[in-house]
Order: sequence, then C-alpha cells, then structure tokens
Amino acid sequence: MWDRKSLASVAQLSRSDIEEILSVASSFAREPRELCKGGILANIFFEPSTRTEKSFQAAMYRLGGQVITHKDAGSSREKGETKEDTIRILAGYADIAVIRDNEEGKMQAYSKIAGVPVINAGDGSNEHPTQTLLDMFTIMEQTGRLDGLKVAFVGDMKYSRTIHSLMRSLSKFDGNELYSVHAEGLSAPEKMKSMFKGSYPVSRMKEVLKGISPDVVYCNRVQKERLKGEGAECYTIDRDVMAVLPERCMIMDPLPRVGNISAEIDGDKRAAYFRQARNGVPVRMAVISMML
Ligand code: NCD
Repeated sequence: MWDRKSLASVAQLSRSDIEEILSVASSFAREPRELCKGGILANIFFEPSTRTEKSFQAAMYRLGGQVITHKDAGSSREKGETKEDTIRILAGYADIAVIRDNEEGKMQAYSKIAGVPVINAGDGSNEHPTQTLLDMFTIMEQTGRLDGLKVAFVGDMKYSRTIHSLMRSLSKFDGNELYSVHAEGLSAPEKMKSMFKGSYPVSRMKEVLKGISPDVVYCNRVQKERLKGEGAECYTIDRDVMAVLPERCMIMDPLPRVGNISAEIDGDKRAAYFRQARNGVPVRMAVISMML
C-alpha cells in the first residue's frame, strides 16, 4: 500500500494503487473539485520542463490551491546555493513539493529534507512516475484496459525515464507484452532487458512494427542531454510507418517531439500524444489531492 508521503518511483505503487489514482483522476476529468483550497504547492525544477511544470500548476489551481515555482535561472542557485538548501527553503513555504532533478535516485533523500510530501517530476534517466500515470490513464481511456496489451517502445530505451517508469508499471498488470525498438547504442539498461519480449534496432522499425501489430507505439526522443558518446541515431514516425500499423494502434509520446514524430500524422485518429498531454491535469490533480 502506497503511504502517500512521497511518490519517488512507480515501485511504491501496487496495481490497486494505480487503479485508485486513475479512478480519482477520471472523477476530476468529469468534475474538478476545489479540494486543496488554501494549499501551496512548490514546483522545484532543476531541469527544463513545459508540460510537467505547467500541468502541475494548472492541477493545483483547479484544486483551488496556489503555486510557487523555482527555476535555477535568477535564483540563488546562481550564487552557488545547493539543491538541498533550495528544497529545504522552498518546501518550508509550501504544503507539497514537486521536484525535477538532473540526478538519479535522490528523491527519497529530498523527501526527508523537504518535510512535506514530495512528488518526483523526473530524476535523470531514472523515473517519471506521474508521466506514467497519465500515460496509463490515456491507454485506459482509449482501450478500456491495462492488461493484455502489446506495447512497442521506440527510441531511447537507455536514458528515457518515461519509458523506464511505464515499463515497470505495465509489468504489474497481466499479460502485457513489451517490445524494444531502440536507437543504436541506446538499448535498455541490463536490469530491464528481460522485461522485453523482443528487442530490435530502430533501423528495422517498419518491418518490426508490422510484425508486432502493437496496441500502443510509445515513442520518446533520444535524450541528447544525457548521452555519453552514444550515437544519437534518429527515427521518424511518419505516414509510411502509420501505414503498417493496425487501426486500433495508439501513437503516444510524452513530448517534446524533436523530429521523431512527423506533423503529417497529427490528424490521424491514432495520434494520441496531444490528448495524452492534456490528461496531465486530471491525473496530477488526483496525485496532489491524495497526497495532501
Ligand atoms: C519527458 C521528460 O521530461 O522526461 N517530458 C515530459 O515530462 N513530458 C520526456 C522528454 O523530455 O523527452
């Protein structure tokens, strides 16, 4: 059972915790309720963000609460203040903290420093649990299930935290088949490789996807800022790729897309990425309100 004091990793969530969060999110999607009036959320971002930061903000506003935001630029971080002190101070002004970090695995330590509930908004290439919850919400909304899915991950299996968290979560459900279609040199970390039913180079993407006939293609850009000399081979999901995918297949991407999804497929009803981004608000409303 999730203790609701921190959300550092999807490992803290059981299958029924995930189902409960998604059900609360779906009630917020139908009818927002101001359950956090008077509350303050600290958005603390040590890495760039558009969707995560702004959807946490919108979620807290819709819950009737308020938001303070830290970004390094213009802050005392430029004078050399540590991340730890920054968290200590900002969390002291707030009731809950959302933290995005460029380092992996420090969220539990940050949570102790903060003294208020802490939500991991992405830590290095490790995890991004709330992205996964909104991904699962989107899959549930469209397919009506989280079991028995064929999911092909395309792109950077090595450094994509959204892929890592989603793989771990889908593995808690029954009968999901996960496939890796990875860019050169960017296959999954050793400890995660056994989670895949098949693993293929992205240079064979079209024939591989045709063979798999997936329910979901989950793309993510090559995480250029995290590469340590690996080749940043690119791929593009375009009309040609869509032609080999079944009608029921959803195309998902946490975004930003940087050439990996062509705008020519935006009008295709299988393109789910903008709906997916919008679902960030009700899902984050659910997580914030449950933790407060
Ligand atoms: C992702 C991230 O930050 O990991 N973005 C997001 O939160 N929607 C994906 C990415 O940056 O590629």
